[in-house]
Amino acid sequence: MTTTTIKKNKPSKKFYVTTPIYYPNDIPHIGHAYTTVAADVICRWNQLLIGKENVFFLTGTDENAKKVFQAAQKKGIETKKFVDFLSKEFNSAWGKLNIVPNRFIRTTDPDHVEVVKWILNKAKENGDIYKGIYEGFYCTGCEAYYTEKDLVDGCCPIHKTKIENLKEESYFFKLSKYQDKLLELYSKNPDFILPQRRGSEVINRVKEGLKDLSISRKDYGWGIKLPFDETHVCYVWYDALTNYLTGVGFNKDKKLFKKFWPADLHLVGKDILWFHSVIWPAMLISVGIEPPKSVFAHGWWTFDNEKISKSRGKVINVDDLIAIAGVDSLRYFLFRGASFGEDGDFSEKALIERHNSELANKLGNLVSRVSALAEKYGLTKTENTLIKKLDLLKIEKYFSEYELDKALCLIFTFIDNCNEYVQEKKPWETQDKKVLYELVDSIKAIAILLWPYMPSSCEKIAEQFGFNIEYSLLKKPIKINDIKKGEILFKKIDIK
Ligand code: MSP
Repeated sequence: MTTTTIKKNKPSKKFYVTTPIYYPNDIPHIGHAYTTVAADVICRWNQLLIGKENVFFLTGTDENAKKVFQAAQKKGIETKKFVDFLSKEFNSAWGKLNIVPNRFIRTTDPDHVEVVKWILNKAKENGDIYKGIYEGFYCTGCEAYYTEKDLVDGCCPIHKTKIENLKEESYFFKLSKYQDKLLELYSKNPDFILPQRRGSEVINRVKEGLKDLSISRKDYGWGIKLPFDETHVCYVWYDALTNYLTGVGFNKDKKLFKKFWPADLHLVGKDILWFHSVIWPAMLISVGIEPPKSVFAHGWWTFDNEKISKSRGKVINVDDLIAIAGVDSLRYFLFRGASFGEDGDFSEKALIERHNSELANKLGNLVSRVSALAEKYGLTKTENTLIKKLDLLKIEKYFSEYELDKALCLIFTFIDNCNEYVQEKKPWETQDKKVLYELVDSIKAIAILLWPYMPSSCEKIAEQFGFNIEYSLLKKPIKINDIKKGEILFKKIDIK
């Protein structure tokens, strides 16, 4: 096994980004949308930098979980039919949000089942799986094991619900054996866990010592059977994490796997960082596969300052989110309304306010004013002095560190600069074709940089001004084309 040291800000020639695969026990909500839009933004940014063919984006559904099985039972639907239906709901939600992954993986896909069996057999062959008795607690809501000291008043610390007390035969993965190897991985790769402060928490816990992990349950009628003992089904996390290998053709499409593995980035919510930054690399080291380069944990959205939870009716689903102000305004708000990596509060009012004041007033007005004047008076090519205000280097740096909110903020500062320039130069009075050229050239830069966040609006702008969304064009002066006035990009919305 080789561990490579990752250098910051060095663009790689390929980029492989993943989201967690979601439990299809209900329809997708804002939490799922957040990670998936973020992955799409990062995917599109890398497409701009290194070309579409060199970027791979994986998302999907985590179907072999006990909570999924229980949800199907509760509805009285056969589990496979239940997951077939909900998995489609996830896939179509991403389509509605203008997200097109390279593969939508389902853990019931036959090629995935094969990879799970392979990794189990291999870890066993390497002496890392043994049979024992698991005695302790299990929360099906979390699909996680707990010890007595983790519980709060005898309940799950997350769900606050009664917890299953187990004592049964189980197979274990020798996680404890990998403590030193993991610590070495973290110290050689300071960007392995991002943001770094979350990394320190994980590293301190690993230093305290690791316990072996129970990786099977007695077969209860759902899940992947262990290849060496068919009376047991695989623990859902051991199965689910493996999807990142299946997704890029492990043991099936050698060329694809060679091109894209190791993953450049696993995007996850803060609650599942441990599985991705401790268990997953240990599983990979155990079977001789290189660990991913980075795991980035983002924060959680609350809704009107309350935790999003089904029991309180505070689940905001994707269709409702889109209905507020449209797809691009939602995609924009997710990275404008909270710092990526920190928690944020979602409110319909805040989304509409930003839509009105930033998208309709600032961006929309800039585009419509400049296009109308340029159509009327024409353009004269000149040096674009205005673009000097755009801090491209910093924007690139923020993107490379996945600071999606900061990159967006800087692009918006430049939109402010452009609006100030219009006010200062008054091209509607002066009819100055050079000023108009500078503004049109600046709008081109804005549209290219904003495209990862708001693809369809930026494509409309590009069409209107006659340029393509290509990164190389950022640094080239815009060609003078016929400019169309175009439709209004963002219509103002009344706050109820
Ligand atoms: N199936 C596992 C992941 C396996 S990955 C190999 C899982 N699924 S989940 O559907 O419960 O959650 C998926 C993601 O949604 C997690 O990253 C979680 O953090 C995120 N979110 C769920 N609710 C959220 C918010 N309210 N806000 C932001 N993200 C949240 O865990």
